[in-house]
Amino acid sequence: MASQGTSIWAKHQIFEKHTYWLMLGILIVISIGGLVEIAPLFYLKGTVETVQGMRPYTPLELMGRNIYIREGCYNCHSQMIRPLRDEVERYGHYSLAAESMYDHPFQWGSKRTGPDLARVGGKYSDVWHQEHLHNPRSVVPASIMPAYPWLSQTKLNAKHIQQDMKVLRLEGVPYTDEDIANAQADILTQSTTDADAEALQKRYPKAQVRDFDGNPAELTEADALIAYLQMLGTLVDFKLYDNKANVR
Ligand code: HEC
Repeated sequence: MASQGTSIWAKHQIFEKHTYWLMLGILIVISIGGLVEIAPLFYLKGTVETVQGMRPYTPLELMGRNIYIREGCYNCHSQMIRPLRDEVERYGHYSLAAESMYDHPFQWGSKRTGPDLARVGGKYSDVWHQEHLHNPRSVVPASIMPAYPWLSQTKLNAKHIQQDMKVLRLEGVPYTDEDIANAQADILTQSTTDADAEALQKRYPKAQVRDFDGNPAELTEADALIAYLQMLGTLVDFKLYDNKANVR
């Protein structure tokens, strides 16, 4: 017994007396731990559970999202409702990972100078958003949000929308060739009140179709941004899921 103990001790001395062997030993032990955690992820079909109703953004919504990012709205607004009672009661069902599965880059954020916007879709009318973006003080007198009056005066430049969609497709967003080929037409269809939107809504279920900026004569950046705001959080029907799970 004694000799066996001594021989283990003798072997272990290698690590205790030589820093480099010790470092190598630590590396091996840590990488086993890492492999056990990381390797299975490569064999799962998806690490994000899919939920019914999620679809990629329509080209118009995507343009709106680009404007949202360009204007830095994320500096004051998060888009992630945490599973805490106060958040769920104020903003609605907590955000699911799958709800941002087509977001590149995601807009979760942690800075909330303004409210979370993950489920702002449908909360206000288009007119409210038009007024609010033009001058937030006109609808919320104490608001400290900056005004964005140029959005309703700037024509929407959708020149790059197809490249945008192709890049997103490289990142895993399932845009089809048909979606990309129709992008420009889809933008016009979605922002026009009297257009035949059947094909658009077939490819993008629940797409809201109307003139969003209150100026049917022109397609502006406000059209795109409001289309985006009005769809946020509207795709997943949470009535399908267990209501009791809403509050933890
Ligand atoms: C400097 C911080 C700041 C920036 C930047 C900002 N907001 Fe706000 N936002 C606020 C604050 C504060 C409120 C709450 C008062 C109000 O409703 O105006 C708000 C409210 C809102 C609301 C209403 C939310 C609700 O549930 O009542 C929307 C929608 C909104 N902002 C959209 C935007 C968009 C779109 C942008 C970018 C174009 C933007 N905000 C940029 C601070 C900001």
